[in-house]
Amino acid sequence: MSADRIEIENDTIRALFEAAAIVRAQAHAPYSGYRVGAAVLDDQGDTWLGCNVENASYPEGSCAETAAIAAMVAGGGQRIQHVVIAGGHDAIEPCSPCGGCRQRISEFADGDTQVWLMEANGTLTAYSVADLLPAGFTLVDKR
Ligand code: THU
Repeated sequence: MSADRIEIENDTIRALFEAAAIVRAQAHAPYSGYRVGAAVLDDQGDTWLGCNVENASYPEGSCAETAAIAAMVAGGGQRIQHVVIAGGHDAIEPCSPCGGCRQRISEFADGDTQVWLMEANGTLTAYSVADLLPAGFTLVDKR
């Protein structure tokens, strides 16, 4: 990978993180107070956003990643290139995707697809889908 390529990718990831942080402000999280925004970049270069939407019947709430993936599918996106997650209570804190969202990401991703999280020191770090969901469930002929 050339230095140019890394720089372009970092700019892309930074822009996706900013988009995730902006959509995080739309979260409906009156019960947990934990707001999450997610940005998905699909393989056509389109960006899809989602936030968590909680419910008074707690189990009916949904995650930001789930919403972003649903937006991608509804908009015609097919495969995920990158996912960037921005979550936290008052400020943005490190937020790793829940197990259900790892499975939902995996449905539209490859093992080396990158999921970007903010670390405690503020840097953005990529985790592969394979690392986040080892031995995840798949159907042989799922498409
Ligand atoms: N949440 C997400 O949106 N994504 C995750 O991957 C982890 C958790 C939401 C669900 C709930 O609204 C709040 O964060 C606290 O769990």
